[in-house]
Order: sequence, then C-alpha cells, then structure tokens
Amino acid sequence: MRLLRGHGAALAVTFALFSGAAIAASVAPASTDRVAAQGAVSDALAATIATCAACHGEKGVSTDPRYPDLAGQKPGYLVKALHDFQSGARTSDLMQPFATALGPDQVTAIAAYFARQTPATPKKADSDLARAGKIVFTARGQGHPPCASCHTAGGLLGGVMGRMMGGGMMGGGMRMTDPAITPNLAAQSASYLKSALDAFASGARADPVMSPIAKSLTQTEREAVAAYLAGLKG
Ligand code: HEC
Ligand code: HEC
Repeated sequence: MRLLRGHGAALAVTFALFSGAAIAASVAPASTDRVAAQGAVSDALAATIATCAACHGEKGVSTDPRYPDLAGQKPGYLVKALHDFQSGARTSDLMQPFATALGPDQVTAIAAYFARQTPATPKKADSDLARAGKIVFTARGQGHPPCASCHTAGGLLGGVMGRMMGGGMMGGGMRMTDPAITPNLAAQSASYLKSALDAFASGARADPVMSPIAKSLTQTEREAVAAYLAGLKG
C-alpha cells in the first residue's frame, strides 16, 4: 500500500494513543460517545471502534475509497482478515499495527460490530465499464468457475444459481470456498477492489484461490469487475 503511506504519520499518533494504557481517555471522546450510543457496545470496544473509524468510518462505511468498507461484511471473513494481518499472512503497513493491537476477544467483538452495520450504498460507476465487469463476474473464467459462484453479490446470482455454477459442469475443476470466509463484494469501493485484485495478481497478497484467478484477468477486466461490484446493492 505504497500510495497510502502519507496517511501513516498522522495515524501513527492515533495509534500511539490507542496502544497506550489510558485507551478510553485518549481516543477522541466525542467520537467514542457517538459510537457507544449506536448500540450496546462497551466503552472499551467503543474506544477501539473509534480508532478504526479514522479510516473505515464509524459505521464501517469509509469516506476514502482507498479504505475498504467493513459494514455488513461477513463476520467470519472480517475475523479471518484480522487474523491474517496479525500473523503476517496478509501485509499492510497501515492495517497490521491496528490488527496486532487487538486481543482475541476484541477481534470477535469488532468483527461482529462491523458485520451488523448497514452496508454502504452502491457507488456510481461508469456504466460501460460496469457492463463489461458484469460479464467478467458472471462468466466462467480461464480455469476457474465464475466469480459469482463463490461471491454472492447483493443477492444477484447468489444462492442456488451460484451453487449450480460453482459445482458440476461449470465448475472448472475448482471447489467453492467456505461462504463464511468468502467476502461479499457488493457496494465495496471500486478502487479498493481493484487494488485487492492487483495485489493478488502481483503476489503482494497471497491466497491459494484468488491469486491464480486474479492473475488470469487483464488490467481492464480487473478494473471493470471492480466498477461493476461497486455499483451493486450491498
Ligand atoms: C490507518 C488507516 C486504518 C486504520 C486506522 C484501520 N484500518 Fe483496517 N484497513 C486499512 C487498509 C489500508 C486496509 C486494506 C489493506 C490491504 O489489503 O492492503 C484495511 C483493511 C482492513 C480489513 C480487511 C477488509 C477486507 O475487505 O479485506 C479489516 C477487517 C480491517 N481493516 C479492520 C480494521 C479494524 C477492526 C480497525 C481498528 C482496530 C482498523 N481496520 C483500522 C486501513 C486502516
Ligand atoms: C472458488 C471461489 C472463488 C472464486 C471463483 C472467486 N473468488 Fe474472490 N475470493 C474468494 C475467497 C475465499 C476470498 C478471500 C481471500 C482472503 O481471505 O484473502 C476472495 C477474495 C476476493 C477479493 C478481496 C476482497 C476484499 O475485501 O479484500 C476480491 C476483490 C475478489 N475475491 C474478487 C473476485 C473476482 C473478481 C472473481 C472472479 C474473476 C473472484 N473473486 C472469484 C473466493 C473466490
């Protein structure tokens, strides 16, 4: 995440406070109160959420397209992502310090908090690009089943149809992945989705399933599928 390094310095300050002893007192109190008022979360959890909010938004909808929306994401996937940042299986200069500061209970609680927030509203996307992206998302790719067979997207082609395409004759020899840890991509930021696909393709982010799939897509296909997904209802 070279592009994002500029934000690191400012946030390093937030992080220094976050990791200090007086957590609740040091995180912006107004923000903490607002988070706490939104639902039954403890003061300590509200303080942690307020820290994440600097990049991901208080309710998990980011105002900066470089940071992923977390609202409405599957809790199992959020937990897996945080564990991957903690173990170093997934690297990010910005995210890893925040992930490694979380204890096991905080990981579960924070994943549950963001998972139950209202998903982002669909983003406006270039319609030609999105149309091309729909084909990438729903068609069978080179040696892999359609994206839609694993990633349910806003209900479209999810469920039964996805299962039909994922297995049997259209399966392309690849098994479907556990739905609980397969992220929902609908209404996610296009620039985040594109950068995630680029990272899989370059090897900067490694996943046994997604790395070969992303590599099989052209730059234009990655951009198009990201635009399509960003415009879907989450
Ligand atoms: C300094 C900005 C920043 C802060 C603060 C931050 N994150 Fe992140 N987060 C990121 C970036 C950037 C990524 C994308 C990393 C990548 O894949 O390269 C990310 C990714 C994630 C992901 C993976 C999302 C996905 O779709 O794969 C989760 C989960 C997450 N953050 C949770 C949190 C939590 C919980 C906190 C607070 C404890 C937090 N983040 C604080 C910047 C931040
Ligand atoms: C066989 C199942 C499967 C197929 C087919 C598949 N994916 Fe994935 N995808 C996954 C899994 C599992 C992950 C989570 C990887 C991880 O934990 O880092 C993922 C992660 C992603 C991510 C990262 C999301 C995030 O929040 O960081 C993107 C983007 C993505 N896939 C796009 C696609 C696209 C586009 C296609 C089709 C060209 C596709 N996937 C096909 C299973 C699949």
